Amino acid sequence: MKDLIKNIDVNYAVIPCAGRGTRFLPITKGIAKEMCPVIDRPTLDYIIDECLDSGIKNIVFIISKDKEETIKRYYSVDKEFEDELEKANKLKEKELIHSIGTKCHIDYVLQDELLGLGHAVYLAKDIIKDNNFVVCCGDDICTYQKNNPPIKQLIECFKKVNRKCVVGGNEIERKYVNKYGVMDVIKKIDSRTYQLKGIIEKPSIEEAPSNLASLGKWVFPSKIFDYLKNTPKGKGGEIQLTDAIALLMKDEEVYFYDFIGKRYDCGDKLGYLKAIIDIALSRDDLKDGLYEFLKEKVK
Ligand code: UTP
Repeated sequence: MKDLIKNIDVNYAVIPCAGRGTRFLPITKGIAKEMCPVIDRPTLDYIIDECLDSGIKNIVFIISKDKEETIKRYYSVDKEFEDELEKANKLKEKELIHSIGTKCHIDYVLQDELLGLGHAVYLAKDIIKDNNFVVCCGDDICTYQKNNPPIKQLIECFKKVNRKCVVGGNEIERKYVNKYGVMDVIKKIDSRTYQLKGIIEKPSIEEAPSNLASLGKWVFPSKIFDYLKNTPKGKGGEIQLTDAIALLMKDEEVYFYDFIGKRYDCGDKLGYLKAIIDIALSRDDLKDGLYEFLKEKVK
C-alpha cells in the first residue's frame, strides 16, 4: 500500500544543468548559463519556483564539476550573510536570502562526462527510485498564471492518461520546426493532448510531421530508467532522451501536452534577452521605467 501511495503523485523534478552552453559562449566559459541572471535571480531559480508552484519540493540537479560550487553556494543557507543583514536591520533582505536556501530539498548528482541529456537524466535513478518524476531543462524558463504553471498542467495530463509519459511543448510556427523535436501524432485526445507515434528530431520544414514542438519539460514514470539504460548512443555520440522515449513508445502509449504558458530558451542569447524584457515588463518595480526606455528606442 505504501508503495502504491508513493507512486501516485509526482514529487520529484530532475533538472539537468551540466551542459557546456556553447551557444552562449564566451560567458559560459566562466559562468554556468543556468546561473546567468534574469534581472536579479538566476535562470535556475525561475524553474525551481515553477516546480514549487506545481507542488514539487524535491529537486535533483545534475551538475558538472565546474558548476558545482556556484550552484551549491546559491542554494545553501549563508548564516554569516544573514547575521550581517540582521545587524543592519535589513530583515526583508535577510528573509529573502534565507528562503532561497530553504525553499526545497535539493540533491546534487555529478555528471562527469557530458554524454547527453538522456545520460544526465539516468544519473538521477538512485534518488528517484520508483517514483514518477518531472524533467525540466536547466536553461528553459516559463512565464504563466500563478495557479496554472506548465509543470502542473503536465502532471495533471500525466494522471489523466494513466501515468504514461507526457512530453510538454507548444504548437510553433512551421518555419521554426527544424530547431526542435517535432511530434508525429496518432490522434488528438482533447484540445491540448495528443497520442504520439514518434518524435522527429529537428526535421526539415517539408518533412516535419506536425507543428508540435517539445520544449524542455517531460513527466515520466520511473520505468523510463530501464529504457535509458538500454538506449545506445545516438546523434552526436550522446545518449538522447528522445531515443529512450522512442523505445518506451514501442511498449506503451506516450502523449504530448500543449501547455499554456510562454517558454523562453535561456540557453540562446535572443531567448534570454526576451525573457529578461518580458519578465521586467511584468514587474511593478521595473515595468514603467523599462517601457519608457523601450518606447524611446523604438522611436
Ligand atoms: P542543451 O543542449 O540545451 O545544453 O541541453 P548545452 O549542451 O549546454 O547547450 P549548447 O548547445 O552547448 O549551447 C539541455 C539541458 O540539458 C543539460 C544542459 O545543461 C541543459 O540545461 N545537459 C545536456 C546536461 O545536463 N548534460 C548533458 O550531457 C547535456
